Amino acid sequence: MPFSRRIEAAILRSIRSGQAGAAPPKLAAALEHAVFPGGARIRPQICMSVAKACGDDMPAMADAAGAAIELIHCASLVHDDMPCFDDADIRRGKPTVHMAYSEPLALLAGDSLIIMGFETLARQSMLDCQRGAALMMTLAQSTGMPNGICAGQAWESEDHVDLGAYHRAKTGALFVAASRMGAIAAGADPEPWTELGARIGEAFQVADDLRDALYDEETLGKPAGQDEVHGRPSAVTAYGVKGAIRHLKDILGGAIASIPACEGEAELAEVVRRTAERLTPVSTPSSARQTV
Ligand code: IPE
Ligand code: IPE
Ligand code: MG
Ligand code: MG
Repeated sequence: MPFSRRIEAAILRSIRSGQAGAAPPKLAAALEHAVFPGGARIRPQICMSVAKACGDDMPAMADAAGAAIELIHCASLVHDDMPCFDDADIRRGKPTVHMAYSEPLALLAGDSLIIMGFETLARQSMLDCQRGAALMMTLAQSTGMPNGICAGQAWESEDHVDLGAYHRAKTGALFVAASRMGAIAAGADPEPWTELGARIGEAFQVADDLRDALYDEETLGKPAGQDEVHGRPSAVTAYGVKGAIRHLKDILGGAIASIPACEGEAELAEVVRRTAERLTPVSTPSSARQTV
């Protein structure tokens, strides 16, 4: 079965378990809204590609790892869009969860998805306690404090922010988790896979900063120009558009070079190459608002 179908099926199983029985209908619907239809599902794709490169000897564990990562990612977007963070009205081309369902339900939907991510891993831990515990630990470290998404979002409340530290925590940590969790799910040592996740994560955030500066809301499916509006540190502010594109290409070249020698190495390099093509802005679009 292709990764995309495995990922959608695994996420759906988790969501359905959270909507079962006497679930409050509005929160149950808000969970669905936050997760389907998905965006690029890039993090679970990386996780499962690494699992495959490592032999994927326990596919149910890799499915759970991919689903858990995506649930946490979707939760982070629900919270990130709320008025107390970026106050965004649209996400993936439709109203954000707080716009569609209210702020209390968005807060609860984000919380529920985070817990659901860990529950998804806990359920599969019955198959292999050691792998399950390592997966939960890795996901926790990429989500909370001091180095996870919570830390990344918290840097926005500090007076002085280091761009690298901010990006590593806000975005990079979950990409590192994706590559490491792919290895762990397949019973391999996660250590050699850390650099790949870190490099893809860094490239991804630079690409996201470029898209924020260059594209419009319709193309992005979310508000554009937000880094400038909120005065956020951004690769475009730091390096300019051309410098950021150069930086992006350098990082992606390093990502491919960092893939450890393994049976699935060539296939994984191809996945990273395709990801790189998707991330790199093709040209400065006619709708460009910033042409530094
Ligand atoms: C957006 O992530 C948030 C960032 C970390 C920059 P994605 O671009 O992966 O969002 P979706 O899941 O595809 O919508
Ligand atoms: C979101 O970062 C990263 C998260 C941890 C949710 P941004 O605020 O830069 O991403 P977008 O532009 O809203 O997707
Ligand atoms: Mg934000
Ligand atoms: Mg945002």
